[in-house]
Amino acid sequence: MIIENKVMNHIKRYGPVSYSEFMQLCLYEFEDSYYRKQDRIGFHGDFYTSPFLHPVFGSLIAIKLFDMWNSLGQPNSFDVVELGSGNGKLCRDILDYARHISKEFYDAIKYLCVDVRPLTFEDLSEHEAKIQSIDLEQLLVSKIQGCILSNEFFDALPIDRVYREKNGWYEIKIEWYETGLRDVYVPLVEGPVLSQIDKWGLNIPEGCIAEVSTIFESMIASLERILDNGFILTIDYGDLSEDLYGNPVRKHGTIRSFKNNVQVANVLDVPGKQDITSHVNFSMLIQKGLDVGLKLEEFISQRTFMMNLGSELMLKKLERGSLDRSIYILNKRRIESLLDESGLGGFKVLLQSKKATLINHFLEEDSSNRLKVPILNRQV
Ligand SMILES: C[S@@+](CC[C@H](N)C(=O)[O-])C[C@H]1O[C@@H](n2cnc3c(N)ncnc32)[C@H](O)[C@@H]1O
Repeated sequence: MIIENKVMNHIKRYGPVSYSEFMQLCLYEFEDSYYRKQDRIGFHGDFYTSPFLHPVFGSLIAIKLFDMWNSLGQPNSFDVVELGSGNGKLCRDILDYARHISKEFYDAIKYLCVDVRPLTFEDLSEHEAKIQSIDLEQLLVSKIQGCILSNEFFDALPIDRVYREKNGWYEIKIEWYETGLRDVYVPLVEGPVLSQIDKWGLNIPEGCIAEVSTIFESMIASLERILDNGFILTIDYGDLSEDLYGNPVRKHGTIRSFKNNVQVANVLDVPGKQDITSHVNFSMLIQKGLDVGLKLEEFISQRTFMMNLGSELMLKKLERGSLDRSIYILNKRRIESLLDESGLGGFKVLLQSKKATLINHFLEEDSSNRLKVPILNRQV
């Protein structure tokens, strides 16, 4: 049976279902659910992410990890955990650049790729001995010293949707109606979704729809528990509560679907065959982190994050280099896209720490030529 039918049959039988249940079915539950089936990231897929655009992204993260490793006193074993590692592209770029920065640092790294599907990226063989592909359950019984990082992991976690009216809350659920799926508004009087709204004081204005995560809290608490000492680096789109819910352009919430690199009008279309995603409420990650003892180190835009780590210097080096004109333009454009505040550069970067304080060594100490620019040699 094809995935659409599996999801629809489930809803016909057990519905109405919550949005989180719907996302779980479409994206993860079945062997042919969206993220378990095939890699759909890239210009020929449904959407693209920063690692896909240019290896500079992973290289700058490698510099950040080098600073973390130094801040922890250069341990012989340094875990890098990547949540939602997808096809392994970011892992490859980080390890390539780590090897370039320092042999001791590279030798210390043990890289754990965490996803629902084993790695597929073909260019990982050089680093094979360092990489282990595991699932979230396996990770959550580990002990980590190093960094737990993610790019666009939290935005892919199932969320619930609520609507606020003058006299109360409704949960938006999904039901089968005649020939297809449709939203149904169910009064929300108790349960985990309402508890999250109350607990975090989510200030969703009247007449507005918003997403609420019942997973973020436990996810951050679990990550803190497995982290012996080190850092959690989270990169994603989203905002603080006040910007997320108070913004009139987000009156209908932020849940979206993408297919063939186009935003799809209806999230309920072709269940299991398109991406479903929503903006991350960083206030919850920060506040829950503080509650469980994670220190807030940084909360900045992707643009600032990259610039702090040397992206401008890399662009200058690129300009001074002797690349073929078309290759130069390709690389410059891609790097600039990563920095563009109206796009990927506007993503947020959250750095939290446990029993560690980050000292930025690399750029301050690096007067040599270590800051090399990784080059994309062809359009991919
Ligand atoms: C939007 S994609 C991002 C992939 C990659 N990080 C990138 O930047 O290209 C989200 C990834 O998170 C993974 N993911 C989401 N929830 C997960 C879970 N509970 N366990 C493991 N992986 C998960 C998905 O399978 C998917 O590969």
